[in-house]
Amino acid sequence: MIKKILFEDRNDNWEIWQKNSSIERSIKRIKKQLPEMEASKQLVKIVKKKYKKGDKVLDFGCAAGHFYLSLKRIDNKINYYGFDSTKDYINYAKRYFKKEKNTKFEVQSLFSMSKKYYNKFDIVFCSNVLHHIPSIDLPLKNLIKATKKVCIIRTLVSNNTHLSRFYYNDQTNRKGELNNFQLQNTYSYSLIRKKIKKIGNFKVSFLDDIFDGKKINKEFTKKERKRYPGLTRHVDGLQIAGSKVFEFKWIIIQK
Ligand SMILES: C[S@@+](CC[C@H](N)C(=O)[O-])C[C@H]1O[C@@H](n2cnc3c(N)ncnc32)[C@H](O)[C@@H]1O
Repeated sequence: MIKKILFEDRNDNWEIWQKNSSIERSIKRIKKQLPEMEASKQLVKIVKKKYKKGDKVLDFGCAAGHFYLSLKRIDNKINYYGFDSTKDYINYAKRYFKKEKNTKFEVQSLFSMSKKYYNKFDIVFCSNVLHHIPSIDLPLKNLIKATKKVCIIRTLVSNNTHLSRFYYNDQTNRKGELNNFQLQNTYSYSLIRKKIKKIGNFKVSFLDDIFDGKKINKEFTKKERKRYPGLTRHVDGLQIAGSKVFEFKWIIIQK
């Protein structure tokens, strides 16, 4: 007789931010309890090269909008739009930035973005989201559709696709499936190109992630990593989150 096999990794409860919005450290960055992200500094450099005064810039998966504070260095009155699927972050951002009339925040999901946003933003970027969600086809489509000029994505890209889950702990649901995890998905360059090609014929390039490892490790304190298991650290030129090497790349899609 074949025994029923328990697949411990079959839980699809991947929306960690809906379960517990304190998992994201964006609000701490806004309040200056944490420094500016290394990725934020590089984002500013990338956007600066593409930006023209008056451009509309969309940050999809903006959390509480901490990238806006960095983008202000390009233009203090930058037309910044922040979309995120987690209400708590958007509500916080709306309150925090309410006096900054050049900002707008809205609950929108990468999986179901309203068509009214097609072709509405000169520059669209999406940082640190695609590796945490279970499929990237619709998200890529919506990001590109929303873009007029250039779409910038920071996610995990390598020679091979490597889809994985990091478990914060060994907690299980009633079925005995582990249920406290974040997705940590890496896509191969070729799969990313193939998926984008299906959407349209755009120029696609990849940029290396530039960071100061010492600054990343400064945030990797005992207290922070206890509160946020899976926090990124820097070892020998590599970024490691939990037990996986995080090969971040910036994907630049030119329209
Ligand atoms: C790891 S955080 C990244 C925050 C910020 N972009 C950064 O790089 O620091 C992931 C963010 O993506 C948001 N998110 C997750 N799924 C989403 C979806 N389907 N559509 C839009 N935002 C999503 C989460 O609410 C969270 O704010």
